Amino acid sequence: VQYEVVLPAAGSGKRMGAGRNKLFLELLEKPILIHTLEVFEQDENCTGIWLAVKPAERAVIQKMLENYGISKVKGLPDGGAERQHSVHACMKEMGQVDIVLVHDAARPFITRDIIANLVQSAHNFGAAIAGVRAKDTMKKVRNGIIEETVDRESLWMIQTPQAFRFDLIVEAEDVAEKVGFLGTDEAMLVERLGHEVHIVESNYENVKMTTKEDLLFGEAILRKRALGNNL
Ligand code: CTP
Ligand code: MG
Repeated sequence: VQYEVVLPAAGSGKRMGAGRNKLFLELLEKPILIHTLEVFEQDENCTGIWLAVKPAERAVIQKMLENYGISKVKGLPDGGAERQHSVHACMKEMGQVDIVLVHDAARPFITRDIIANLVQSAHNFGAAIAGVRAKDTMKKVRNGIIEETVDRESLWMIQTPQAFRFDLIVEAEDVAEKVGFLGTDEAMLVERLGHEVHIVESNYENVKMTTKEDLLFGEAILRKRALGNNL
């Protein structure tokens, strides 16, 4: 099943503390943004990439796309103040497609098999998101005191990609914009409509490069993969 992907890349990377957009930081001498783009460039089911960028970074990014031979980018609209606005900016520019995938540009280790599972599930059910089972014991805490231990069996840690039928995500975003609802992921907007969202089991390598130590994990993952060593 074919799809187009929306990659929000217009953040500032505050928690990384690099003083600039973390997506330009390099893992084994290649920018994080390029690692992510290459996954979609190489996936034959991906028919187009939409990249939300900061206006001041557009020229640098376009140069990078040329240098690394990324050819599928169809548009680079201005991102917004919040991630959801950046995603929406891409959705407004793209034409009608069957399936849209939304993926954090800061998650460079996503694999094509998980993408394929997500796209298939979104095709079947309308909405599907990547997640992994919680590993630690989970407790709900208020004011430093345990309120309860939450049943871990029912807890999933949610990642991107998140995949949707085009009409469904467009409706969900339009409603969210109209009522001023801000979600932390796209699925929340769809859940609000009362539409079921399916989960696709992903893996623990699909980490988001968020803080400094994530770069260490990231390079370890790349080194392991370079050795052809898949967990
Ligand atoms: N993003 C975006 N527009 C925003 C905020 C975030 O396009 N207004 C993008 C980021 O570039 C990133 C993805 O959304 O690829 C996930 O966001 P996050 O990991 O929070 O990145 P930043 O917002 O850049 O980092 P921080 O929250 O630490 O400032
Ligand atoms: Mg952020």
